Amino acid sequence: MDASDPVIQRMRKMAEGASARAYAPYSRFTVGAAVMVEGGELFTGCNVENGSYSLTICAERNALFQAVAAGHRRITAVVVYTPTEQPAPPCGACRQVIAEFGADAELFSFCRGAGHLQATARDLLPHAFTLDVPPEM
Ligand code: THU
Repeated sequence: MDASDPVIQRMRKMAEGASARAYAPYSRFTVGAAVMVEGGELFTGCNVENGSYSLTICAERNALFQAVAAGHRRITAVVVYTPTEQPAPPCGACRQVIAEFGADAELFSFCRGAGHLQATARDLLPHAFTLDVPPEM
């Protein structure tokens, strides 16, 4: 998949819409994400902050958990949007959660500026811990 693919552009629009609904009164950094599951259905999420800062949930995990709550287990693409000049890649925690449900997922980060990032989940989190490789007991 390529950034100009119509479905990726549609996901970019959805992620942009979600970023406008972010609850980010503390950081003022509004993030939106769209997730595609196997079969093509799309889910969105935004970051939701809390006065107890560590309870904040990122946009990517919010979108992914919406997909899981709807009964999906495999994701094929994640698109992030931030209203910034540079694209923002997913944080480490989100990379780990993305790896759980889609090690081969394609990730795109778009922003207000012209640039974008593209990578696979595996590129962003090599040697991810998953239950495919259980820890030694
Ligand atoms: N944030 C995300 O939503 N996704 C990321 O991958 C990185 C950070 C949010 C969390 C917090 O609300 C704000 O951005 C600043 O860290």
